[in-house]
Parts: sequence; C-alpha cells; structure tokens
Amino acid sequence: MRILSGIQPSGKLHLGNYFGMMRPAIELQEKGEAFYFVADLHALTTVHDPAALRAHSRELAIDFLACGLDPARACFFRQSDVPAVTELSWILSAVTPMGLLERCHSYKDKTARGFAASHGLFAYPVLMAADILIYDSDLVPVGRDQKQHLEVTRDIAIKMNELYGSVFKLPEPSIREDTAAVPGLDGAKMSKSYGNTIEIFEDEKVLRKKIMSIQTDSTPVEAPKPTENSAILGLYRLLASESDYAAMVAAFQAGGCGYGDFKKTLFAAVWEYFAPMREKRAAIVADPALVDDVLRDGAAKANAIAEGVMSRVRKAVGLA
Ligand code: ADP
Ligand code: TRP
Repeated sequence: MRILSGIQPSGKLHLGNYFGMMRPAIELQEKGEAFYFVADLHALTTVHDPAALRAHSRELAIDFLACGLDPARACFFRQSDVPAVTELSWILSAVTPMGLLERCHSYKDKTARGFAASHGLFAYPVLMAADILIYDSDLVPVGRDQKQHLEVTRDIAIKMNELYGSVFKLPEPSIREDTAAVPGLDGAKMSKSYGNTIEIFEDEKVLRKKIMSIQTDSTPVEAPKPTENSAILGLYRLLASESDYAAMVAAFQAGGCGYGDFKKTLFAAVWEYFAPMREKRAAIVADPALVDDVLRDGAAKANAIAEGVMSRVRKAVGLA
C-alpha cells in the first residue's frame, strides 16, 4: 500500500497540523510505503516572500523529522524537487471541468480572507491531484478540511480514466474522526488563517501564555463548568491519558476549580507531550547536513517513481 501526504510550508507547525495530519501520517509509515512532502509549490499561492518560503520549508522539514517521520521508512522530499508534478498538473488541467474547481471551498475561503484571486489559488486542487496521482497513491492521511480536495482528485482521475483508459488508481482519504478538527484558542477549528493557533515548538513562556489565553465563559470558580465544546477539554483529550482526561471532565462537572487551573494542567500536558520531539528537534538543528541528505535522497526516490508513472501518462495522452 502506498501512503502519501503533503503539508504546506506556510507558517509554524501547530497542534491542529500535528494531530490532524502529522501524527496519523507518522503512524501510517509503519503500514506501507509512505511518501511525505513539503508542499512548497502550493505555498507559493499564498507566501510571496522568498526568504519566508525558504525558512518555512526548512523548518517544516525539521519539524516533521522531529515529530517522528523516519526517513528509513518514509520517502521525504520537497514537492518542487519533483518537477514532473507540474507537468502532470497541466495534463490534468486540460481535462478538469471548471465547475469542479468553482465548487471548492478553499478558493472561496482564501479569497474571502483577502488573498488575491490568482489562477494558482484556483487551480490548487489540480496540483494536489497531480501530487497524489503521480505516485499511484492508495491512501492520503489529511485533516477533514482536505476532504473535498480528495474528492476532486478522484473525479479528475475518473475523468482521465474515461478518456484514456485506466491510467490512474483511485486514492482514498484517511481522516481520523477523533482528530479531524482540533479546536483553537477561540474554540473554532485551529488554523493559521484564524489566528487561533498553538504552535508546538514555541518557547515555553510564549506557549504558556497562549494556553492561558484560551477563551472561556464566565462560569464562576465554584460552579460546574460546561464540558460541551470546551477547547480546554478538546485539546486535553488529544494528549492526556484516558484517566487524566476523565479526571478533568469530572472536575469540570464538580465545580470548585477555575478555568485557570485547567489551563495550567493543559499547558503541563502539552509541554510534557512534546518534550521528546523538542529534544530530537534540537539534535536535528545541530546537524544541518542531515535534513539536506534526507531531502536529497527522498527526491531521488520520488522522482524515480514519478517518472515511471509519467511515462505511462505521456503515452496514454499522446505526448509519447
Ligand atoms: P492551516 O489551516 O493552519 O493553514 P493547513 O491548511 O496548512 O493548516 O493544514 C495542514 C494539514 O493539517 C492538513 O492536512 C489539515 O487538514 C491539517 N489541519 C490543519 N488544521 C487542523 C485542525 N484544526 N484539525 C485537524 N487537522 C488540521
Ligand atoms: N493541500 C494540503 C494542505 O493544505 C497540502 C497538500 C498538497 C497535500 N498536496 C497534497 C495533502 C497531497 C495531501 C496530498 O494541507
């Protein structure tokens, strides 16, 4: 089974990215042949500062390795190091109905939030389809917000197969319901674009301050607290043991404990959960050649697979 996923280097890694995409992807690397990449071509649609793009790409690669991506098991590379993906993207574009892209939420969301309505932003799902199809991927671990892009990928693959015979495998998304939408500081889905993120590799003080700023209601200390839609509980559930989580739920229901105390417990749990990753990250940062080596080897392997699929595609469409 081939497993593939990508993540854009468009900012710092947050808890939503980790629990929604990175941890499931890392767990899956044991289950098959994994291909994971830094989606720098996709990030070009929103990041127009070259120094920032370069820095984010490198940081993200370091973060992914620190969080447990094992380059001995998974092929890890930068999207732009496989140039054939842009060629495939064009081939797919030529058969992709406009209506399919016009229905996509992410384009509408991003333009509504002030990003310029560029062609790249509109065609984003086509490049993503190329990412997935060029490795004959079976399974794509992502957060729930990427579900529609997987549907578009399948529709494009079906269209290609109708036109040209069976060119592509149909990939399946892998979305974990328990971590599909990690809540942010305001209780809404955690996202860079909502400014409600908790960054994983943040400095201790900043991280504590962020967690202490989680929005809560005005229930007095003595009173029982609502457990429904609580961002504190939603986050704590992701990283506490079942019994610790149950204890916090019980303390919410009993009353007598203020939100500040719950946030302190949450901070301690987050800090402890990511301690091994922080340690690993420091070691990776201290050995700069390591990331370069991993990405270079990953690119070589990814290109070899991509080229195999591309010769099939070029033949199928009449370019070869
Ligand atoms: P952001 O919304 O912060 O810009 P990205 O779109 O870069 O995040 O998401 C990268 C990956 O992380 C995707 O697979 C996405 O589904 C996942 N992800 C992001 N935020 C969350 C969240 N709050 N809950 C679950 N998964 C998330
Ligand atoms: N669109 C994804 C995101 O914003 C990133 C991505 C690009 C991706 N290509 C992909 C994810 C292919 C899975 C498969 O997070």
